[in-house]
Amino acid sequence: MAKVKSAFYCQNCGAHYSKWQGQCNSCKSWNTIAEELIQTSKKGDWKSGSKQEKQRISKPLKISEIDTTKNPRLDSKDSEVNRVLGGGIVPGSLILLGGEPGIGKSTLMLQISLKLPFKTLYVSGEESQKQIKLRAQRISPDSNHCYVLTETNTQLIFSQIESLKPDIVVIDSIQTLQSDFLEASAGSISQIKQTTSELMKFAKETSTPVILIGHITKDGTIAGPKILEHMVDVVLQFEGDRNHIFRILRSHKNRFGSTHEIGIYEMLGDGLRQVQNPSDVLISKKDKSLSGNAIAVTLEGMRPLLVEVQALVSTAVYGTPQRSTTGFNSKRLNMLLAVLEKRAGFRLGAKDVFLNITGGLRVDDPAIDLAVVAAILSSNNDSALIKNYCFAGEVGLSGEIRPVQRLEQRIMEAEKLGFDAIFISKQNKLSSKAKKIQIILLSKIEDLIEHL
Ligand code: TYD
Ligand code: MG
Repeated sequence: MAKVKSAFYCQNCGAHYSKWQGQCNSCKSWNTIAEELIQTSKKGDWKSGSKQEKQRISKPLKISEIDTTKNPRLDSKDSEVNRVLGGGIVPGSLILLGGEPGIGKSTLMLQISLKLPFKTLYVSGEESQKQIKLRAQRISPDSNHCYVLTETNTQLIFSQIESLKPDIVVIDSIQTLQSDFLEASAGSISQIKQTTSELMKFAKETSTPVILIGHITKDGTIAGPKILEHMVDVVLQFEGDRNHIFRILRSHKNRFGSTHEIGIYEMLGDGLRQVQNPSDVLISKKDKSLSGNAIAVTLEGMRPLLVEVQALVSTAVYGTPQRSTTGFNSKRLNMLLAVLEKRAGFRLGAKDVFLNITGGLRVDDPAIDLAVVAAILSSNNDSALIKNYCFAGEVGLSGEIRPVQRLEQRIMEAEKLGFDAIFISKQNKLSSKAKKIQIILLSKIEDLIEHL
């Protein structure tokens, strides 16, 4: 019997070693190097499993001679996915979709497979054909173009692909695949590397787009680490809070478009629904305004998004006041409270402060600062803000209101949603175009207090 070959891989960064060691030299993490069985005697790629192995040689071409008209982008029939991908699926691209378990990756991909008007193959290593059918029935009525295969061996998958000739392939998930050319178990670094490279060769040689679903690890990176992200053309991340209905599709890497676009979905009983006008959904339309609420005009990717900030300031029951936030950086809240105390004389040191961004969103845009301050002040004085006001400005350490980027876009969105006035920084440059909305310029935090 031939000796079984093995190699050592860092499970964190994918670095390769010939023997075990305690610390990985490249990512410096401890105890992450594990032995994996490999079998290198047979080399193979996606075509080796089939009989008709053709030898294809690629020749250098002048860039002006390369024909792109034959393969336009495929319309995924999902405007949010199209937007995030930069206008549709590029033929021959390898797309990786990552996300926490239960967030809706399989649902999103199955939904797209069902909606597409051409032959799609949905390969699942996690669910049976019946389970997928049950899910598909909830999402959309029967589709004649979608094929489902439950298989984890790549060579068998390729032999099915060769007879079916699908226009697009979805793999759920890359961590369940296994290649004949390696002994290592599914989900190991060497298997992920091998199966992904087989799929990549297949995608490039046949111009068939392949979408891979990938699990992510506890710390939020895609399992089967960075190597996967290097190999694929596009890395998408599906994010959100499992307890809330909103999901955000973001691109972290895109060889064919910008990474600033996001897609917003709502998880409903019958699948994911695209949210065309997210601001409308995120702001509660109450008749009576309440104290402690303020509307912030933020940006998610390139899209302006209006979110509601809620603050509650109350007298601390215990000696040390509590500070708690949902969807906002708590360090930033402490900073804003310190600024309020030092620059405006508000004694919040003995108060509990709770802050909440509605809709389960996480906002990192500094332009939300002004709305946070307004909400805190409103709750502290127990007087509601005027209902149709919104805010966009960053607050600096000396209490100055700093300008924000893409202000015109934000103002347009606020105008569209029928707000009467927007508070911004005096330093922000505005175009001279007349606007329906009233613009209130602030230079310091004291100006805001005066206005309120
Ligand atoms: P799923 O796509 O299986 O997640 P992933 O593949 O990322 O692990 O989504 C599972 C969750 O989505 C599940 O908790 C139930 C919810 N869901 C709905 O709310 N409505 C639906 O129509 C479907 C299919 C799922
Ligand atoms: Mg799944």
